[in-house]
Order: sequence, then structure tokens, then C-alpha cells
Amino acid sequence: MPPFYPEVGKAARGATIPPVAYLKWYIECLDEQRPHNLSFSGLQFEWDLSDVEEAWLDHRRFGGDERDVVAQQFGVSVENVHLCLGATQGISLALLAVCDRRRIAVEMPSYGPVSQSARLLGMETVAVHRRPADTHWLIDRDEWSKQLTDVDAVVVTPQLNPTGWDYTDDDREWLVNTCREKGVHIISDEVYAAADSKWKGMYLEGEHCITVSSLTKVHGLGAIRYGWVIAAPHLIERIGDAFHNLAGQMSSSSIQFAEAVFPRLHEAEDKIREYREINLPLLIAALERLGIDWAPPPNGVFGAFRIPGVDTKALIDGPGKDNGLLAVPGCMFDEGLDEWLRVAWSIDPQSFAAAVEVLERIIGNAMSEP
Ligand SMILES: Cc1ncc(COP(=O)(O)O)c(C=O)c1O
Repeated sequence: MPPFYPEVGKAARGATIPPVAYLKWYIECLDEQRPHNLSFSGLQFEWDLSDVEEAWLDHRRFGGDERDVVAQQFGVSVENVHLCLGATQGISLALLAVCDRRRIAVEMPSYGPVSQSARLLGMETVAVHRRPADTHWLIDRDEWSKQLTDVDAVVVTPQLNPTGWDYTDDDREWLVNTCREKGVHIISDEVYAAADSKWKGMYLEGEHCITVSSLTKVHGLGAIRYGWVIAAPHLIERIGDAFHNLAGQMSSSSIQFAEAVFPRLHEAEDKIREYREINLPLLIAALERLGIDWAPPPNGVFGAFRIPGVDTKALIDGPGKDNGLLAVPGCMFDEGLDEWLRVAWSIDPQSFAAAVEVLERIIGNAMSEP
């Protein structure tokens, strides 16, 4: 059977386009509407945007620049910003802007579109790994030093999906310096970063660093398809040209909803802190009773742990489905993570408590099977 995790390799066209196996599996599971859903890596948050009237009208106004809200939010000039239809598209735009050699390093584990899309753009990808650990998964420096030769960029997700753990300060410094020395761009997918109030965007580390993000995850607004890229002005110019070729213009509705939401982003960020306070202790206690070691990441709404001796895809497809529970098996993110499970605490406390009870029961049963 082909693997579920993202594939690296040569440029892909026609029949060689790799599926995002995770999404094929996951969308079907979502359609089942399982009542106990611990799979959402984004906050489930009901925004009241009823005061955005006539959102379908053209957003343009004299003297305005649609990039202003993002520029102000991050303290940069509008020349450092380009808007796009979500972080996934932002990664493609950044890749197109820096790709001369047509070779890209991609961090693993990863969410499929983040590491696979370069291949559709005519680029070859090679893998660089963050290695499993109890807290921060560490950069394999020997491997990365070797692979970061002769590539245009490395695509990373600092708040690693599936664990939610960021780089250590030391690894981040090593990565920034190594890439600067080797002339490699860092394309940093920071969709989970806003949950960390102390986070410093990778774009602050120099002209070789590009930040990509969106309102999808921490702010629970994937439905409006609003994202951005922050980079040096010469890269933003190329990104603008690529965006016009690929997508034309932003949607006026997305811009109007996003502009209404930017002054209120803290509402979602506060909700994450509240969910961490109420939900996380329940999960920690359940895992302790099961004898599973786990250190939750210091920020965000998801984490991943290893369940020794249990194939987590079989667990979710079998007892999970039978008991109405959904969480994401580690095999969706990289080779060797078959015993890992990603669990999110992004839902209201009542639903979370009920789901954790089911989770504890099915894990307990699976661990006691001979
Ligand atoms: C690391 C990562 N980047 C990007 C996305 C999707 O972001 P967007 O909706 O802004 O394209 C996801 C979704 O799961 C993700 O996990």
C-alpha cells in the first residue's frame, strides 16, 4: 500500500502527481460527522461577523492599500507584504519567487501540501527531518547540513505539525545562520504561530527568510481563505507577479471580513488560552492513567504522543469510528510515526470532556490487546 505521509521526489506531472493521502482519508472521515472530534488543528470558534454588511461589494477605496492591516499587525511596510488565498497558496508563491535551481528541501514530518506542492511547480524535493523527542523535536543537523547544499529553499513549519512543539532557540539560530551561509531561503509556514504571544516571525531574521501565514488555524477562519506572505521587497515583487498569474486578485469579501476581524484577533487567542486551561488537564490526566508519557507543547491547540504497540490508523479507523471518535494518526505526517496520534483540544470543554473519555477507553482497550 502506498504511504499516507507526504512523498518527496522529482517534479510531478499528470499521473505522477502525488495524492495528499491525508486529505483523501480525512475529508471522508469529516463527512461522517463523528460526534467526538479531536482532529481539528484549528480553533473551532464562532465569529459574529454580522456587522460586515454587503461583503460582496468591491473593497477598493481611494488611498487605501489592502495590505495595510497585515503590515500594521506585524510592524512592517506594505512593500514587505503580499496577500494570498491562504498559507498553502503562500508557500507556492514563495517557492516560485526563490526557485532558480529547481531543488527544494522540505521539513518532515509535515502536512502534505506544505511539503509536496513544490513538485507540482516543477521542482524536485529532498527531505530534512526533525527527530522525535519528548519535547522539542530537534533538527538533525548532520542531515540538514548535507541536504541544504544545492537547494533554493527549505520549507519549514516551526510549530511542528503534528506535535505543536517549536524549534529550540539553539536550533532556530543554527537554521537561520546555516541557511544564510549556504544562500538558502527559509520559507516558514507560521499558521500556528499566533498562539504564542512571544513568537518572533522568521521574516525578522534576514532577507533570506520568508514568513507565510493565514487566519485559518489560530483564528479559526479558514472559510474566508485569507493569507499573507512577509518578505523582502524584491521577493514580494516577484510574489505579486506570481499571484497575478495564478490567482488574479484577492476576493473582496475575504478582504472585508479580514479587515473587520483584525482588531478582534485577540478574541480567538484568548479562547485558546481558556481551552488550554480547561481542556488540557483532562487529556494529561487520561494519558497519565494510561501510562503514556507526554509533555504538551507550551502553546497552541494540538499535540502528539506515542502509544506503544498500537497502530493508530487502525485504532481510529476501527474502534475510533465505531465509537464516533476522530483524531489524526501519525502516519499522515511521516514514515515511522505509526504509533503516534495527534489530538487537539480546540473544541468547547463539554464536547472535549466527552471525547477524552472515549479516547481513554479505546486506547486502554487497544493497549491491553495481546
Ligand atoms: C502546517 C499547515 N499549513 C497550512 C495549512 C492550511 O492553511 P491555509 O488554510 O491557510 O492554506 C495547514 C492545515 O492543516 C497546516 O497544518
